[in-house]
Amino acid sequence: MNMPRMVVSPGCLSMLNSILELEHRRILIVTDQNVAKYHLPALRQLVPQAATVVLKPGEAQKSLSTLEQLYQACSQASIGRTDAIIAFGGGVIGDLAGLCAATWKRGCSLIQIPTTLMAMADAAIGSKTAIDFEGQKNVIGCFYDPEAIIVDTEMLSTLSLRELRNGLVEVIKIAALFDRPLLDALQRLPFDIASDLEQLTPLIKRAIDLKLSVVQQDPYDQQGHRALLNYGHTLGHAIEAWGLKNLERPLLHGEAVGLGMTLIDGDPMHLLEQFELPIDLPPTLTPNDLIESILVDKKRDQSAIWYVSLDQICMPTLCRVEVAELPKWLNQLFIQHQARRAGDRADSVDLSSTVELL
Ligand SMILES: NC(=O)c1ccc[n+]([C@@H]2O[C@H](COP(=O)([O-])OP(=O)(O)OC[C@H]3O[C@@H](n4cnc5c(N)ncnc54)[C@H](O)[C@@H]3O)[C@@H](O)[C@H]2O)c1
Repeated sequence: MNMPRMVVSPGCLSMLNSILELEHRRILIVTDQNVAKYHLPALRQLVPQAATVVLKPGEAQKSLSTLEQLYQACSQASIGRTDAIIAFGGGVIGDLAGLCAATWKRGCSLIQIPTTLMAMADAAIGSKTAIDFEGQKNVIGCFYDPEAIIVDTEMLSTLSLRELRNGLVEVIKIAALFDRPLLDALQRLPFDIASDLEQLTPLIKRAIDLKLSVVQQDPYDQQGHRALLNYGHTLGHAIEAWGLKNLERPLLHGEAVGLGMTLIDGDPMHLLEQFELPIDLPPTLTPNDLIESILVDKKRDQSAIWYVSLDQICMPTLCRVEVAELPKWLNQLFIQHQARRAGDRADSVDLSSTVELL
């Protein structure tokens, strides 16, 4: 893995030209309408020669047809291998523009300028690019190292509180996995995190460092280290997919991952609660509703599902559950979760009768 140039600080976007030499390169900026509204003028001033594609916001943009649109823009702007694509947005833009950069002319330069907390702390870090296909998330993609990652935390000031909290889940996740001081620092944040964004910058920096150190040990997600970052995701992805079809107000990715963490372990629950993130399962969701999504998840092999659990805070373990045991396991998790929410001790619940509930 080639380490990208990395800058994390409030206002660092204005230093773009001193961080990277861009004057003599062709540039394609890929962004979405929300980011363009607030932040595109500032970026365009710094790279006035750039061509720009402004997409509608949302996960639907991670598609083959939008990727084709980007290839057309690359062609029109004559983007060559030493030229650069700037992914200027949240995780959707980063994943999509990243895949375009990885494949255009077998790879041109990629500059990630993440604008959501989710992208700053997680999506822009670790060189994964992807689009969705036939309803399956992130199934077409590759690993591709960016030339630089510029994290200007001032851009969070225009992000909605819900999106901020959504991104905070990934910071909570990495803290619960690896770093108690980060967990303590999160606990000291005011519940209204938008009121003091300055306090977030060092926490984002720490989350990035932690993720990078895991990624460096396992850049292509093959050794198991990187799999630990999937804490909350096996169930979170399934809850998110169910919510998209069944909830009037679907859960955001981070919100669903938070629920995935609380189903596995009770520990992160109080931190999620502190930031008013959802910790109660949607009332109409049943264990059965998650099975299909879990079975098509990338985190499985022939006979088992892999998931991450905390033996205790900052002591993660990679665990497996046999596919045949999946209904029973899910049922137990739901009951334990209900018991925790009811303030009961999970181990006082008789789990032997749970299988019949399915
Ligand atoms: N590659 C990875 O390792 C990785 C990791 C985690 C998530 N992801 C992917 O990231 C995506 C989710 O990312 P996300 O949560 O950033 O979603 P997103 O990109 O959809 O952004 C969320 C919303 O915030 C808006 N927005 C972005 N920046 C803004 C700003 N500064 N001010 C105001 N509005 C702004 C966007 O227009 C959008 O409406 C998913 O597709 C997920 O699969 C990838």
